[in-house]
Amino acid sequence: RQQQQRQDSELMSQCARYYQHQLKHHAQAEKAISYLKKRGLTGEIVKKFQIGYAGDEWDGVLNTFGRSGQQRQQLVDLKLVNRNDNGRHYDFFRDRIMFPIHDRRGRVVGFGGRVIDSDGPKYLNSPETRLFHKGHELYGFWHLQQQRKRPEQVVIVEGYMDVVSLAQAGIDYAVASLGTATTTEQLQRLFRTTSTVVCCYDGDRAGRDAAWRALENALPLLKDGVDMRFLFLADGEDPDSLVQSKGAEAFEQQLAQATSFIDYFFEHLLADIDPSNDAGRSQLLSEAKPRIEKVASDFYRESLMEKLANLLRRDRSQLERYVDKPKQQRM
Ligand code: CTP
Ligand code: MN
Ligand code: MN
Ligand code: MN
Ligand code: MN
Repeated sequence: RQQQQRQDSELMSQCARYYQHQLKHHAQAEKAISYLKKRGLTGEIVKKFQIGYAGDEWDGVLNTFGRSGQQRQQLVDLKLVNRNDNGRHYDFFRDRIMFPIHDRRGRVVGFGGRVIDSDGPKYLNSPETRLFHKGHELYGFWHLQQQRKRPEQVVIVEGYMDVVSLAQAGIDYAVASLGTATTTEQLQRLFRTTSTVVCCYDGDRAGRDAAWRALENALPLLKDGVDMRFLFLADGEDPDSLVQSKGAEAFEQQLAQATSFIDYFFEHLLADIDPSNDAGRSQLLSEAKPRIEKVASDFYRESLMEKLANLLRRDRSQLERYVDKPKQQRM
């Protein structure tokens, strides 16, 4: 199995180098390069993140790495190549800007590929393979660890371009959760690396939903000494567009004013609940209390409970008695 793993990651990094090479030498390379330029990326940062280009042909990777049947099978296993029902093989990524995804030790375990000008889904990512487990990986984590083992803070963003643009601007402590909601495993990894995690998702509905889910996933990880904060961007902005248009200083200024998780917790709940009447307060109790009880730190839990008691217009001591009775079977 270890040998398998070594061979797999060897093939993945060869493939990453192949895509990098194509960015310079493919017939369509100019189109890819001018797209990256249009996105404001320098050659230096493109190289640093080993960004490449998958050509528009159906057999680039296949012909380069799939000479034997065994090699083709490995390409299929790693989802670099597809096999259709007729047994024909063809490249998985075609005509896309390629972002290699590194695991924490720097091995390439997957790819994200962005369309340039054709239609189809904007990003295509490596599916789960024996090497790639999406929910565990964080794009940019390895690069971040190259800079500092214990950064003061880490910013979680949604996407590849956010991490790369921020790094180019000198903000080299951002990682992306790869489109999914940030998982408990990803947060766990981050809280082992830093004391402060700032969530900065896109200024849209999906980004705001992702923020709340990240907080819910983080509750059991909020121990003493760790902090989680939230930076909400203006509508239509993401960290990439913000740092490209306004610069690193503006971004870091906003970052310094990110909302504490305690404030965000109540702001979010109170967006839909009116605590000026008993029904609203009862609803607030039922939404807030079970979540607060998951918080790891006694100290944070107590702060949240005090705030909740104020909002409910009850004494803190009364709140303890409001425990949902164990459900009884009723006919
Ligand atoms: N994503 C994905 N598949 C999609 C859309 C998004 O996997 N069809 C993931 C990618 O990792 C992407 C992230 O979700 O980077 C955030 O999506 P989005 O905000 O839509 O894209 P951006 O990262 O802003 O990409 P760009 O700036 O290139 O448009
Ligand atoms: Mn998995
Ligand atoms: Mn988005
Ligand atoms: Mn975005
Ligand atoms: Mn974007």
